[in-house]
Order: sequence, then structure tokens, then C-alpha cells
Amino acid sequence: MRVKGMLITEQHTAAKLVPQFKLTELSFENKYIQIFRALDSHQKRVILKLIRPKYDQVFDELDCRAIKHEYEIVRYIGESPHLIRFKSLIEHENSTIGIVEEDDESMPLLDTIPRQGFDVKEFLSIAIQIAQAVDHIHSHNVMHKDIKPSNIIYNYKTSTVKLIDFGSASRLKEELSSHATNINKLGGTLGYISPEQVGMTSTLFLMTLFAQSVSIITCLTHSLDWTYESTY
Ligand SMILES: Nc1ncnc2c1ncn2[C@@H]1O[C@H](COP(=O)(O)OP(=O)(O)O)[C@@H](O)[C@H]1O
Ligand SMILES: [Mg+2]
Repeated sequence: MRVKGMLITEQHTAAKLVPQFKLTELSFENKYIQIFRALDSHQKRVILKLIRPKYDQVFDELDCRAIKHEYEIVRYIGESPHLIRFKSLIEHENSTIGIVEEDDESMPLLDTIPRQGFDVKEFLSIAIQIAQAVDHIHSHNVMHKDIKPSNIIYNYKTSTVKLIDFGSASRLKEELSSHATNINKLGGTLGYISPEQVGMTSTLFLMTLFAQSVSIITCLTHSLDWTYESTY
């Protein structure tokens, strides 16, 4: 199989399990997933996020559950101009193996940042949109938990920013029960102690705001001074 000049010789791909789509480009791949640009049966552009099989057509059950979780949490949050829109799930033998996403011709933000960073006007527009996206998901008590430039896409023609990759996202309710923090054990007086001390709601949201801020700084400077590239 060949997509945009690239031959997919790799065995571990779900590409042959989606004959209803015409794959046009392999945009991204790692050990776990492949991202394809494709045309659906109505010749509409879509993006396919497909899990890679462990071998032949056998998928890891945890990977299948994770991708379904990602789909469900985005659908739960509901539509926003700054959130990726998921169209449907791709199933294979009763397991979820992928997501059909809208393709609005956005590119990963990191690939669009000019070497010297965005100019101030474009930077502010991007920063505000990232903040609006985060505000929207927080208003639904959901935390993204993996905000970084590679999980933000940008359409420079329309100057629109969207958050993608809700693979690590969770609802606050689930976070609080898994933290097992007992509020009665805290010293100090509520209302005065720091969010870090409370260790719950505020901190969880602050973590997202920190990641959001670092992503925004990266847009301005095109560098992340205190760590290395792999964390992008
Ligand atoms: N809708 C999209 N538009 C453009 N690029 C995308 C889109 N979805 C994913 N990508 C690209 O694929 C990469 C991996 O997708 P992502 O959903 O972040 O998967 P992972 O969970 O492996 O990080 C992204 O960093 C981005 O470069
Ligand atoms: Mg990602």
C-alpha cells in the first residue's frame, strides 16, 4: 500500500482494515498509533487515528479501551471551535481500533511556528484561543493533562487553534477518587492554604494552566529553554 509516495511495508498497521477510506497520506506514526489523512466514501477529507495491532490483526485490549475513552470524553465535553471534532469510531471484531476526525487542514502548531516565533498579534490570538479551549474543557470538569504544542493544531489560513489528543484526559471526579487525598488531614485553614497544599481540585487545574503557559511561551520563542526537544 502506498500513501503519498510512502510505502507502508510495516506489518503492524490497521490500514488494510479500513477499505471504506481512501488513505492519502501517513501524517504521523509511533509505536502505538498511525495518523492518516484520508477521503471517506463521500470524498470528504478526514483524519484517521488508528491503533497499531500488536501483530497481524490482533489489538491490545487496553489500547482499544484507551481510544474509546478518548472519543467518549471529547463527545462528553461537546463541541467548541477550539476542540478537535470526532466524527465516529472505527470498530473491528467488536473492538474499537480508531477514530475518524474532522480534517480542517490544520497542521501541528509546532510545525507552523516561525523560527523567530509568531509576531505579537498572531501570538496573542493563538494564546487566547488556547486559553479558551482550556476554559471550555475545565468548565466541563475535564482535565486534558497533556497540553503541549504537539497536541495543539493550527490552521494558519483561518488563524484557528484546536486542542487534540485527549488520550490522557480525565474527568475531575475520577481524578479526585484516584488521588485518595483526605481533606481532613490537611493543616491550615481552608481559604488560606495554597492550592499545592490542598492537592486537589485547584492544583489539578493549575497543572493544566502551567502546561498551557509553557505551550504559549513556546509559540513566542520557538524554544523550551529548560528542557529538551523530546518533551514537545
Ligand atoms: N486532526 C489533526 N490534524 C492535524 N494533525 C493531527 C490531527 N490529529 C493528530 N495529528 C498529528 O498526529 C500527531 C499524533 O496525534 P495524537 O492524537 O496527538 O496522538 P498521540 O496520542 O500518539 O500523541 C499529533 O501530534 C499531530 O502531529
Ligand atoms: Mg499527542
